[in-house]
Amino acid sequence: MKYIIGNWKCNPANKIEAKKILLGYKKGVKKNAKAKAVICPPACYLELAREILKNSAELGAQNCHWEEGAFTGEISPAQLKSAGCSCAIIGHSERRHKFGETDQAINKKVIAALSAGLAPIFCCGETREQRIDGQITDVVEKQMEEGLKGIDLNSAPLMIAYEPVWAIGTGQACDSDEAAVVSRFIKNITNEKIPLLYGGSVNTKNAASYLKDADYDGLLAGGASLDPKEFCAIFTALREL
Ligand code: PGA
Repeated sequence: MKYIIGNWKCNPANKIEAKKILLGYKKGVKKNAKAKAVICPPACYLELAREILKNSAELGAQNCHWEEGAFTGEISPAQLKSAGCSCAIIGHSERRHKFGETDQAINKKVIAALSAGLAPIFCCGETREQRIDGQITDVVEKQMEEGLKGIDLNSAPLMIAYEPVWAIGTGQACDSDEAAVVSRFIKNITNEKIPLLYGGSVNTKNAASYLKDADYDGLLAGGASLDPKEFCAIFTALREL
């Protein structure tokens, strides 16, 4: 199975725009034996997305908290599950770097998501400075070790997304041969049991190369997911690989 996850981030600004994007996807992301799309809109559009995408793409969350109760502004895995999500992006680099999420907090989120029946899409990846310093695999290894502490990598319904921070939203995607080094490294740790996604400036031109040349099982797309034509074209390209 090939996967394409669409991360809308904090977009679009209103429900009318959200509806346009969702209607644009509708027929082009229908789940089949070869490929599956998961759309992760802001929580306020989950209900709309559920209505429009039923029997087509799955729904995911962009984040979650690890508890319910007195946590103003947070959403729990159980709440997301009941809103129709099957998975949740956890540890996205924007959460790590703009909101100061630690590996320990990410680990709590992964555990809570799994126990609520949500599949975590665990994100990892190095900054530009770390790359220049030759620390790519050290950074990824530490993020995995701490963020996935206590998780059975042989059986947990989990996905891992390698997203080099410098490639996110910059139009500067990682070359597939460089991405291949990281996919070999991660798959060595996971024994190839966990689907591995590439993310960072994915578009129709580079999408297939990560699966064909670098042994990824799918993609995590930000910008491209807000353009239904582009997103559906990527979905079709993956399905036909
Ligand atoms: P991008 O974002 O495709 O816009 O680079 C990817 C992501 O943040 O997951």
